[in-house]
Amino acid sequence: KKLRKAVIAGNWKMNKTPAEATELIEAIKPLVKDADCDVVACVPYIDLAAALEAAKGSNIGIGAQNCHWEKSGAFTGEISADMLTSTGVQYVIIGHSERRTYFGETDVTVNKRIRAALDNGLSVILCVGEFLEQREQGITDELVAMQTKIALGGVSKDELKKIIIAYEPIWAIGTGKTATAQQANEVCAVIRATVAKLYDTASADAITIQYGGSMNAKNAAELLDQPDVDGGLIGGASLKPADFAEIVKAAS
Ligand code: G3P
Repeated sequence: KKLRKAVIAGNWKMNKTPAEATELIEAIKPLVKDADCDVVACVPYIDLAAALEAAKGSNIGIGAQNCHWEKSGAFTGEISADMLTSTGVQYVIIGHSERRTYFGETDVTVNKRIRAALDNGLSVILCVGEFLEQREQGITDELVAMQTKIALGGVSKDELKKIIIAYEPIWAIGTGKTATAQQANEVCAVIRATVAKLYDTASADAITIQYGGSMNAKNAAELLDQPDVDGGLIGGASLKPADFAEIVKAAS
């Protein structure tokens, strides 16, 4: 039995129209209704209204995939945390490696976005993780600890309760190259130790730390069985109802 309640979150990335989002949530709903873990779907902004409507009255929480730190203003193409909250969305992913790599987000802007999300009552899924070159250089632990520290700057112990951290090794994302259960557990433990140093042991024991990167119906059980892996952030497999449901079952 897990020490902490697991959280299985789908990250749909740039997939699905609103009509397709409704269809996908409707398909997932009956398959996960008895889940023993928290279930979340993080959908494109354009799908939020449809997903929220479809998930109404179910055990599926809905999240967005990013938010800006300002409340409003001249930020073409951005969406504020305030706007997200107004829709009824509960979660937001911050600092996904795709945002960092393709859209120039830094640890500092990740921290600002987290601040805004917390100030607007959202639960945050903070993503951290290393490139393959960094793993090969042996700097994974330091890097992930640093990403965690900067991201959590100015976050109080009480606010930390609204934060989930997802360890996503970049070399494992969308590549079918999953981290071994041991590799996943090791880095999740490093993140937990970092939280212990920043806050205290109780906070570290309580925080949910997910693994993400080619998690699927086949490998989920072994990964989720690790003591420091408290759930998963699922990309590709979250778009397939049966596979996603299998992962949810593995977390229960
Ligand atoms: O955020 C989840 C993600 O980056 C993992 O994607 O497709 O490898 O499960 P995928």
